[in-house]
Amino acid sequence: MSANSIESIEASARAVLERCDILAGHSEEPDRLTRRYGTPPMAQVNDAVAGWMRAAGMAVRRDNIGNLISRYEASEPGAGTFLLGSHLDTVRDAGRYDGPLGVLVALAAVERLHARGQRLPFALELLAFADEEGVRYHSGYLGSSVYAGRFRSDTLGTMDDDGIPLAAAIRACGGDPDALAGDARSPGDLLGYCEVHIEQGPVLEARDLPVGVVSSIQGQSRMTLSFTGAAGHAGTVPVSMRRDALSAASEFVLAVEAEARGTDGLVATVGQLAVEPGASNVIPGRAILSLDMRHPDDAIRQAACAQLRARAEEIGRARRVTLEWQTLGQSRSVSCDARLSALLARAVAESGYPILTLPSGAGHDGVMLSRLTGIAMLFVRCKGGVSHNPAESVTQEDVAVALAVLERFLSLVAADRGEKP
Ligand code: HGY
Ligand code: MN
Ligand code: MN
Repeated sequence: MSANSIESIEASARAVLERCDILAGHSEEPDRLTRRYGTPPMAQVNDAVAGWMRAAGMAVRRDNIGNLISRYEASEPGAGTFLLGSHLDTVRDAGRYDGPLGVLVALAAVERLHARGQRLPFALELLAFADEEGVRYHSGYLGSSVYAGRFRSDTLGTMDDDGIPLAAAIRACGGDPDALAGDARSPGDLLGYCEVHIEQGPVLEARDLPVGVVSSIQGQSRMTLSFTGAAGHAGTVPVSMRRDALSAASEFVLAVEAEARGTDGLVATVGQLAVEPGASNVIPGRAILSLDMRHPDDAIRQAACAQLRARAEEIGRARRVTLEWQTLGQSRSVSCDARLSALLARAVAESGYPILTLPSGAGHDGVMLSRLTGIAMLFVRCKGGVSHNPAESVTQEDVAVALAVLERFLSLVAADRGEKP
């Protein structure tokens, strides 16, 4: 790479990080980064990113769920379309790179083409998804599921913690919940999808590598369950006569941990626990929990879910509390496209770095995009592997490498189609 291109790559990488900082300023909470689906900060980041997309010579539109869909036309009409993208929503108390980094690195690649007055022999469609984390509606991949034509309309009635149905949230953002099916992308002209994302794990740092090629994205199941016993006076009800919902939930949480410890490759998490009525002198009458289960092998994941459901029923019977169990969503394990991943690996090598291929424990919009076209993912090293945490961080040097690899990859995609890059 000539000195100039390294310099311009570095400048572009710096701009990507500066923009991540700008987007991080749009949060629902004053002292930490939380940007859930359909909230004002999401509209604010959409406006900022749409402005940057337009300045990069892209046509930009917003679909009914709130995804930003931007397009940089090909050097000649009628060519295919290659998809790039990631998500702009965050978890609670989030880091600033999970999602936005992928959108902004892809945008930088388009900006650099535009600055050079270049076009590729295929169009680029850059997607900024409205909800990947599912924090507000416990919906995996809400944005990309609409784009991929896989949205489940039976979830439109799902309520958020404030009792607002998803359909109302869609309308409040200017979308039409009855028109989501029409937002599904037709796959006919698609050449593939590539997402740049922080690794959210420790492997690249341990191997001292700036980037890695993703082999697969493991499947996940998301459940919500509740134990309902009897609220009562903390001072008067003997323990032997209690139907304590929180004690039941606590026994279940430890059962979840034991199941994961005992099943190779299984990760299982209770991330949310609500206790009702929630007073220190009242025996908990109800406990509501989330459950997140993941494994590279779908059959093992599903067996573990069944095992834990049986265990929850057993605990309910033994403690005379009622169990309610609801599966909110699940997604199967997805393999990245072999041809695109080979091109991505070649781009890493031609950019001067060793190739490491690794699976993704985290879910990504690529799971939904895999329903439309072949997917490839490039992981970027993050400090300590920390993510879903404000300490999430990447270096400008590694972002520059990711951008250089993405540019190289796109030219290899063009060459692989027998077209001059
Ligand atoms: O939960 C996940 O794996 C992703 O960050 N939504
Ligand atoms: Mn993410
Ligand atoms: Mn995430």
